[in-house]
Amino acid sequence: MDPWHLSSWRNKPILQQPHYADPALLHNVESQLKQVPPLVFADEIMELKRQLAKVAEGHAFLMQGGDCAESFAEFNTAKIRDTCKVLLQMAVVLTFAGSCPVVKVGRLAGQFAKPRSSDTETQENRALPSYRGDMVNAITFDEESRTPDPDRLMQAYNQSAATLNLLRAFTKGGLADLHQVHQWNLDFVKGSPLGDRYRHLADRIGESLAFMEACGLTLKDTPKIRETTVYTSHEALLLNYEEALTHKDEKNDLWYDCSAHMIWVGERTRQTDNAHIEFARGIENPIGVKIGPTMDAEELLRLSDVLNPYNEPGRLTFITRMGADHIAAQLPPLIQAVQREGHKVVWSCDPMHGNTVKTAGGFKTRFFDRILEEVRNFFEIHYAEGTYAGGVHCEMTGQNVTECIGGAQAITEQGLADKYDTFCDPRLNANQALELSFLIAEFLKKYNVVRKPRNSK
Ligand code: PEP
Ligand code: CO
Repeated sequence: MDPWHLSSWRNKPILQQPHYADPALLHNVESQLKQVPPLVFADEIMELKRQLAKVAEGHAFLMQGGDCAESFAEFNTAKIRDTCKVLLQMAVVLTFAGSCPVVKVGRLAGQFAKPRSSDTETQENRALPSYRGDMVNAITFDEESRTPDPDRLMQAYNQSAATLNLLRAFTKGGLADLHQVHQWNLDFVKGSPLGDRYRHLADRIGESLAFMEACGLTLKDTPKIRETTVYTSHEALLLNYEEALTHKDEKNDLWYDCSAHMIWVGERTRQTDNAHIEFARGIENPIGVKIGPTMDAEELLRLSDVLNPYNEPGRLTFITRMGADHIAAQLPPLIQAVQREGHKVVWSCDPMHGNTVKTAGGFKTRFFDRILEEVRNFFEIHYAEGTYAGGVHCEMTGQNVTECIGGAQAITEQGLADKYDTFCDPRLNANQALELSFLIAEFLKKYNVVRKPRNSK
């Protein structure tokens, strides 16, 4: 293999890229991005890798989630706060009901670029470039909006910086305090059966904290109770942006992509000999790779060798997204191959992207039951193979949307039109996300034996 350098991806075939009319403009934005402060720091990236190593070893669970695509238009405090609340809620349900430490990773502060099934979109006999996420172009169907604009890379950076600033304030400044668990229940969830179930769990957490405080433990001053960390992640699709934000750490001479703590390579761009894997192999961040039903064992092992040659636990997360109908046939041979070769990976389940369907009315949607079915299969298969079901990867939002069908709230096909807001794929709303986490907590208890580190009492 040729030596890696920061731009070596530029010598490889690359898919899913916008066509910028003026390379000089793009180059100019890249130069600006090389000067801006990093969004995250090398030490934080290394800490996430250590946390993910615990997941790989079966001592913790990864909860990754957020919007399919963030947008420039819907950028406000309430939206970020509510997404953060749902992530915290889901994680506390898994931690408390599933008795398992949870590593929280948001799909946010950088999740702006989308792979598409076609380069162009045709409406009324007119073909224009497809919408590729707000970091590339705008969704409105006219020539100007759809023309890729390099300045959007800078806008995405700025919005990511502001989002991260708020996220850090929420998670370190009081909102994430375990004494506040009741506050994480969103208003529209409160009146629902799921809201009640959550309130009950929050009461029990409150009682446990009060009990420990009555025993003399001063939990109010304990950082683990008062604060948490939500790491950031996105699909590293636009390598011009990722390259510009990648810096060499002076302490160890290694490269860190400071656009997010974790990045992943999508199902459509994960070819081992192509640019995206080339870029990812040279940076130190934890890397996710989406694994769809066409992946075969040999290719998966090659990918693992290229991305994780030193077999470092926490470095590599395989995010399987097979679809409820395919997981039982496709996943076991992949797990067996990885086990046979002794590769240390985190196995995470994305139950969203293999279960997308289109309704007769033209809505892209997902059935809650199918999502649950894929997660259930994921746990059962890992249990049967003797491996550890390490995490889930969801598209969800803190808004009260109607984009996925079903769940306790029983959203119907007709009801989808009520509040269908997504810029890309259908997301679980806060009720559905909470319901899913209660169900996952049951799987955690049933299938995942949380092994305690050997030196702990
Ligand atoms: C996504 O996560 O939004 C996505 C496009 O996923 P995948 O690459 O698995 O299709
Ligand atoms: Co998506």
